[in-house]
Amino acid sequence: MQTQRLRIAIQKKGRLSKECQDLLKRCGVKFNMMGERLVVHSENMPIDLLLVRDDDIPGLIMDGVVDLGVIGENELEEVGLERAARNEPSDYKKLRRLDFGGCRLSIAIDKDATYNGPQDLQGKRIATTYPQLVKRYMDEQGVTFSPCMLNGSVEVAPRAGLADAICDLVSTGATLEANGLKEAAVILRSKAVLIQCTADLGAEKQALIDRLLTRMQGVIQAKE
Ligand code: PRP
Ligand code: ZN
Ligand code: MG
Repeated sequence: MQTQRLRIAIQKKGRLSKECQDLLKRCGVKFNMMGERLVVHSENMPIDLLLVRDDDIPGLIMDGVVDLGVIGENELEEVGLERAARNEPSDYKKLRRLDFGGCRLSIAIDKDATYNGPQDLQGKRIATTYPQLVKRYMDEQGVTFSPCMLNGSVEVAPRAGLADAICDLVSTGATLEANGLKEAAVILRSKAVLIQCTADLGAEKQALIDRLLTRMQGVIQAKE
């Protein structure tokens, strides 16, 4: 399915969606978000926005289904590791790091527990949505652990007796605090990034991407 319109995948609803839409608008891409539509056509440029779950964006790029995507580095790296482990395509081009979506992926433990380093996590069960990133970190530290995969409510796992610790995104720290947890180790610092699929998109699309990137540079610099 070839199309001359540039396809950009963005998060439908969540921590990146508003700032991502704002960025595109500031870059001069006119569109009207309404209803529950999956595809939104720009009114003034040959661009289609695909509104999807953030978890799906890395795979859509790596399979070459869409041309560009905006995604958090945490999700991008997790999916990349997962796909590489299954021998599925995991390549992409990082066009630029953006100025929003900042967070850290951290291991958190009971606020009253002592923590002297990763060895204290030896043999523990860790609840997370990012098992690949946790495994990469723990392997680097030479520490073994048991995973507890949860797509949501990770922060309640210790209290619910499902896990000893968690590894989840931290932004303000309010979620950890509200759940009696404290940050023990930061394993990744993440921001939103603009990525492109590795396929050759042809001169016209590539010229449009280059134009968008130039505008983005200006928009981001103006905010600094
Ligand atoms: C993340 C994470 C925590 C929260 C941390 O969830 O899972 O719940 O943000 O932020 P804080 O440190 O500012 O409290 P997100 O908002 O991405 O939603 P999700 O849990 O539904 O994925
Ligand atoms: Zn997600
Ligand atoms: Mg959450």
